[in-house]
Amino acid sequence: MKNYLESKLFLPIILGTNRKDRKSVFAAKWLLEEMEKRSEIETRVFDARDFVLPQEGYGTAIKDQFPEWRDAVIRADGLVVVSPEYNHGYPGILKSVLDLLLKEYIHKSVAFVGVSAGPWGGTRVIEAMVQMVRELGLSATFTDLNFPSVQDKFDQHGALLDQAYTRRAGDFLDELIWMSRVLKWGRENLPSKYHELPAE
Ligand SMILES: Cc1cc2nc3c(=O)[nH]c(=O)nc-3n(C[C@H](O)[C@H](O)[C@H](O)COP(=O)(O)O)c2cc1C
Repeated sequence: MKNYLESKLFLPIILGTNRKDRKSVFAAKWLLEEMEKRSEIETRVFDARDFVLPQEGYGTAIKDQFPEWRDAVIRADGLVVVSPEYNHGYPGILKSVLDLLLKEYIHKSVAFVGVSAGPWGGTRVIEAMVQMVRELGLSATFTDLNFPSVQDKFDQHGALLDQAYTRRAGDFLDELIWMSRVLKWGRENLPSKYHELPAE
């Protein structure tokens, strides 16, 4: 039988804003480095800025215009979403990118990083995303990473100024890994109408 403790997990990050001078990119890049230190994880960043969405066309009907994203999510065991809080919600472009796919997300994990200028660290945007990802079939972890007052958390080059985040990222990743392993075992061992079991 396959040893799920030894199998590597593919957990891509999606950075959910294309705003010029966005601070969320610092959180995404720093977390990427933390994830790359973990031998259990393979990862990469997808950037909302790289998705050139058409004037006409939306959702799964146009997913084949974004094969790199489509194939990564098919292969993924879970996702990390890094999102700023914009008027207590998530950026429209993040929703547009997530809406490109649907069945590819089912029974996979998702962990959230909230970024805000204000004192709540994206708590409200994460609450909004939890409701939304349920419809995608994703299972949310409960260990979020929050960057309140993000303008004080990184220097102008993106170096992290508060080392407490290293331990927080550890807890965040431990939970994501646990959830992703459980769901990977489930996808590969328990029949579901939403996905095929792998061939013997
Ligand atoms: C359209 C818009 C709405 C925003 N709404 C909020 C908000 O509701 N709460 C908050 O704390 N910060 C808000 N901000 C500030 C962002 O959280 C801030 O820019 C922070 O750096 C994270 O976003 P960024 O990655 O775009 O820099 C808003 C920014 C924009 C551009």
